[in-house]
Amino acid sequence: VSEARFNPTGPLRGELSPPGDKSISHRAAIVAAMAEGPSAVDNYLDAADTRSTLEAIRGLGATVDAQETDEGGLSVQIYGVGLRGAGDAEIDVGNAGTLMRILPGWLAGQPGGAWALDGDESIRGRPMDRIAEPLELMGATVECAHGFLPPLRVAGAQLRGIEYELPVASAQVKSCLLLAGLQAEGETVILEPEPSRDHTERMLAAAGVPLEDSERGVAVRGVDRLDPLELEIPGDFSSAAFFIAAAVVIPGSELVVRQVGVNPGRIGLIRVLERMGVGMQPANASERAGEPVADIVVQHVELEAAEVVNTEVPTMIDELPLIALIGAFAEGETLVSGAAELRHKESDRLAAVVEGLGGIGVEIESHRDGFVVHGTGGIRGGWLDAHGDHRLAMLGAVAGLASREGVTVHGIEAIGVSYPGFTEDVKRLAG
Ligand code: S3P
Repeated sequence: VSEARFNPTGPLRGELSPPGDKSISHRAAIVAAMAEGPSAVDNYLDAADTRSTLEAIRGLGATVDAQETDEGGLSVQIYGVGLRGAGDAEIDVGNAGTLMRILPGWLAGQPGGAWALDGDESIRGRPMDRIAEPLELMGATVECAHGFLPPLRVAGAQLRGIEYELPVASAQVKSCLLLAGLQAEGETVILEPEPSRDHTERMLAAAGVPLEDSERGVAVRGVDRLDPLELEIPGDFSSAAFFIAAAVVIPGSELVVRQVGVNPGRIGLIRVLERMGVGMQPANASERAGEPVADIVVQHVELEAAEVVNTEVPTMIDELPLIALIGAFAEGETLVSGAAELRHKESDRLAAVVEGLGGIGVEIESHRDGFVVHGTGGIRGGWLDAHGDHRLAMLGAVAGLASREGVTVHGIEAIGVSYPGFTEDVKRLAG
């Protein structure tokens, strides 16, 4: 485990092209593996999580050729095995919860196949009954350790469509069931308490499967094949969010974020920042991989506290730790509720954010399903443990840049999971 020091900095200025979107990269690789024939995916995220997905589909029989590009991403050619063509395999998902939860949806629909999925220590603490239960209702066999944890054993079967109501909004679970539904008899309907990100729906549309979006939720029917993909992955809003947060809290900052994904299911942070007083007009809007992308200009302003309510949580689930940091700089009390899901991320992010930011001088308290931050106009600094969680490591780094005394981040190497170039981008933009 290594430590890195992030010292207080002057204004952030310049342009940022964030790395390829992690969620969309995972989906592109899996859907390309399910398709028949050659797919080409540009700006694929070159990071540990999404490399795990390339390894996984290779293990299942897909041909994968990944080349590093000058822009820092991967240009990936994938020759898919077809909907029912995955060979038996033991898969190591590393730290990638999205891979662990989505892939079994595909595997479960292949009769006669048998797969084992396992990952690192953090993965072994993440609940999998949320996919195992509905997949079993569809007819597959999914065994978990202690009934709900990895490692998983999946035995494929001829599936039948179900109507399933997710207890908690989750794009990972929804995506898993959509992939299973593609191989099921009849219709599979998935309902969510609030809509989660729809990247899988858009990726399947790119592969020739338009989904039905009804008031009852999203619905899919069995298909014979998926078309190969040819697409370019948008920049990752969740990675860009660390620099957006740094720019709004560090006086004098002005940052241009280029060609970042602005899927409505991902940009709750923009809406909350608007309520806090930050004007962010997306410009140069276009589309990549069936997803909206735009440039975003962000500047430092004096911030007002805001309240984040449960219906917005899915649109900013990975950015909530940044709300805690930004709240420290805002006038008043910033409140987040309906975010109990944070306890099941790469760490117990609710506990880790409160402990981590509390330890560097932020007045923050947790409650059952969220936290409250009392704005004090700044952050003292000190030492923060990332708990092996990439987003906590980057949170600590941004806190250090914006602090009075600097922050030492314990476990900085976790950034490699989603944003290996993070520290270089800090050096470039913070000078
Ligand atoms: C993701 C969905 C979210 C998010 C995760 C990536 C995805 O998880 O926290 O980082 O790619 O579908 P849930 O859908 O389980 O909330």
